Amino acid sequence: MGEHVLEFPKDFFWGTATSSHQVEGGNTNNWSQWENIPGKIRNNDKSGNACGWWESMEVDLSLMKQMNHNTHRMSIEWSRIEPEEGKFNEAAIQRYKEMIRSLKDVGIEPMVTLHHFTNPIWLENKGAWTNEASIQYFKRYVTYVVEHLGDDVRLWCTINEPEVYAVEGHMLCYYPPGKFSLALYFSTTINLLSAHLAAYEVIKAKNYAAQVGIVKNYQLFDPLDENSFFDKLLAKFLDRYFNRIVIDPFVFGKFTFPLPYRKEEIARLKGKTDFFGLNYYTRWRVKATLGSPATMLANIFNITPGAQVSDITKDGNPYGEIYPEGIYRAIKIVSAINKPIYITETGLPDADDSRRPRFLLTHLRQVHKAIKEGFDVRGIYHWSLTDNFEWADGWALRFGLVAFDQNTGERKMRASGKLFCEIVKAGAITQDMVKQYAPDMLSSYFE
Ligand code: GAL
Repeated sequence: MGEHVLEFPKDFFWGTATSSHQVEGGNTNNWSQWENIPGKIRNNDKSGNACGWWESMEVDLSLMKQMNHNTHRMSIEWSRIEPEEGKFNEAAIQRYKEMIRSLKDVGIEPMVTLHHFTNPIWLENKGAWTNEASIQYFKRYVTYVVEHLGDDVRLWCTINEPEVYAVEGHMLCYYPPGKFSLALYFSTTINLLSAHLAAYEVIKAKNYAAQVGIVKNYQLFDPLDENSFFDKLLAKFLDRYFNRIVIDPFVFGKFTFPLPYRKEEIARLKGKTDFFGLNYYTRWRVKATLGSPATMLANIFNITPGAQVSDITKDGNPYGEIYPEGIYRAIKIVSAINKPIYITETGLPDADDSRRPRFLLTHLRQVHKAIKEGFDVRGIYHWSLTDNFEWADGWALRFGLVAFDQNTGERKMRASGKLFCEIVKAGAITQDMVKQYAPDMLSSYFE
């Protein structure tokens, strides 16, 4: 070890995150339908066999082992468990049991997400999360899952990124159902929060020791021009309606801004998450302009001039600015919930891996700083283990610590993957690691 070192807590959780549809292959759900509509997915890609997990998740399990994981975040595909309304598939739940047990057998603690963007087609046909009835359907599905897997799983995530699901489905329209409507954005988000509550209660009733959390993508919005009243106002507005909308109910049991929805249920959410699952990727520098909604929208999301960015998305813009301080700021903000924090996702699309090793070093330094200051961060799940099906960007965006060729199934460890292995093995970041992976940062890294 070098003379300088950033040590992480001994019991820190180190792993990667995946989601069912992005890695399993062969799913029949609202996304498989969406992928069949020409133009919806970049290059008209399909998830297809994805990373082949349904048949052989064990291939990637041995990678996790090789990479020293002590945890992995995965998700359960509702459409496999309940392919037809009210009809549950015993073989599917057994396959998940097998996956979960095989993780545990090699000392990898499973963190299991119950809803990660995808819906069964029968639910989609009923309006999915725009329809309040979906909360009850979700509750029934969760009850079934917990009856079967409850003894094997200690860490549950209820809903992955309710606000992203709603914004992509109803504002940006890159995800199904792709129906633009501000009202549906709000009602969908709130239905998903209620679904969290329902799942929380079902799981805790079965096993009080289980830890059940919400997962939220904390998107920082900063004014592009720090002196502009309107840019600042816009940043605040977006923060409320994208971030506070999920956080406030857990902290205050109400919204701190006007939103006339189901007050009683929102009140019941107060404190009803055992941990906060924080997904952090990037920040936007926002700019307010006058003009048609289309012009305004086109100008809103910017990147700090000169900042380093990750790869380019479907809409021709970078996925985001690389902004390590953001993860520290986000941890600080969500600590208002007063619960342990897991970084349930963080990462970047970087096909040639030219920025990922440095991303790991700089972001982990910020996480370390937060822990040193007393913030209760329990673990980190890098997004993702291998490249996988990246929703509307199909196979074009590459998030893996391990490169994955979807045509041949070949997996190849990236330099960032090797670095991740080393960090996890040491439970620390050492001078030698910085020297090897980002030598130009060495003089300032441990300051
Ligand atoms: C998150 C999402 C993941 C993954 C990631 C990378 O919003 O939960 O499924 O796609 O973004 O963009």
